[in-house]
Amino acid sequence: MNPARIQFLRDKVTEIALDDDPNASVNPTRILRGLNVLDVGCGGGLLSESLTRLGANTLGIDASASNISIASLHASADPSLNFTSGISSLLPAHTTVHRGNKAEGKGTLTYTHTSVEELLIERGEGAFDIVCSMEVIEHVDNPRDFLDSCARLVKPGGHLLLSTIARTPLAYFLTIFAAEDLLGFVSKGTHTFSKYVNPEELEGFFRSYRSQSRPWISGPVAHRLQAETRGIIFVPWNNEWVLTPRGSKWAEGCNYLFWVRRPLE
Ligand SMILES: C[S@@+](CC[C@H](N)C(=O)[O-])C[C@H]1O[C@@H](n2cnc3c(N)ncnc32)[C@H](O)[C@@H]1O
Repeated sequence: MNPARIQFLRDKVTEIALDDDPNASVNPTRILRGLNVLDVGCGGGLLSESLTRLGANTLGIDASASNISIASLHASADPSLNFTSGISSLLPAHTTVHRGNKAEGKGTLTYTHTSVEELLIERGEGAFDIVCSMEVIEHVDNPRDFLDSCARLVKPGGHLLLSTIARTPLAYFLTIFAAEDLLGFVSKGTHTFSKYVNPEELEGFFRSYRSQSRPWISGPVAHRLQAETRGIIFVPWNNEWVLTPRGSKWAEGCNYLFWVRRPLE
């Protein structure tokens, strides 16, 4: 799924940069250069690593200590991420830092065992240019509080990117009946159908969500510079996940990406 996630993020960051400044020079291979990016619920760290390769100063956090260990081990096995230090004395003991090569425009990668709620208390509002959270919201008990914590960490004009699963019969069939019960691709009980979130619910949340009294989405239909949903589908004959074209509503019935921008102040 990672290439599809990165493609969408790259598209939105480019689109916004050019909308803000039509003369902006955008380097597609280092599009996140110098940006502070948070990966909430980073798991094994595949997205965090990709963000770092695009130049981001990435912080990957996870509420599971073992996932942070796995992500750290994986990153340290890649010399291109230029792992230099284990535990930094300047950071909490549960933090591991991988430094990219600044001369090549690569970013830094830091992993911390914490929750998004704790990080918000520690770092305060608006600490990140981009906050990503892939396949996490459908696992939390209080999605509104989780979204609020993620959103508050985004700086004004910054981006929030989520991926999740829609609450539809198709999604039940593919992600629970087929993937869990029939084929055993993921362990039984990984997903809870009632926790799945529909794109309209995310859009509705950000229509009433305000920063400095401005709604993140204004008007009855989200403008593509405010928010956008894109389906991601698995193409078995190519063995890859692809981002479906803009406006393909039919493709948003299972796995999808949702992007929204915090209003400028
Ligand atoms: C299904 S995994 C997704 C991992 C990864 N993002 C991916 O797409 O492969 C969900 C992860 O979110 C983490 N998580 C759940 N709630 C969290 C929270 N409030 N703050 C940080 N991490 C959280 C879990 O520990 C778990 O590793």
